[in-house]
Amino acid sequence: MQRVRTLLADNEFKENIAKIASKEKERQFCRHDLHHFLDVARICYQLWLEEKCPDQENIDKEIIYTAALLHDIGRWQEYDGAGDHALISSEMAHTILERLGFNRGEISIITQAISVHRKINGRETVLGRMLYRADKLSRLCHVCPVQDECYKYHYLKEQDIY
Ligand SMILES: [Fe+2]
Ligand SMILES: [Fe+2]
Repeated sequence: MQRVRTLLADNEFKENIAKIASKEKERQFCRHDLHHFLDVARICYQLWLEEKCPDQENIDKEIIYTAALLHDIGRWQEYDGAGDHALISSEMAHTILERLGFNRGEISIITQAISVHRKINGRETVLGRMLYRADKLSRLCHVCPVQDECYKYHYLKEQDIY
């Protein structure tokens, strides 16, 4: 998990988290902070353990945590009108992962998963599907004080919390 430790200490990573926090200062809905990233990492890893996912994608704990920690890293750009943050985050993750020394295969697995975390299409990878599910499971819609105003609540309220 050395590379996860390196990522958590990385200045570019921390700067992007600070940019998201600044854009979300007044946000009443779920935020995209380190708490969320870690919740998604832990849930995603739990899914992977529970479901004994095939390891044809060479997934391990470090790959799962890295994907989850980066899955929303470009969220601040969406507030600036740059488009879908899943795609933006995937591109930004690519640059960060190259700099941190991840190999091409690992970068491909992680960035593909990040790019589909908002919306799966049936062609996503095992990690993509798990990241999507973990992202949704991480949100406490059942006790959310702004349920009525949140468009996501209307489809997440029916989901299991486990
Ligand atoms: Fe997201
Ligand atoms: Fe997320």
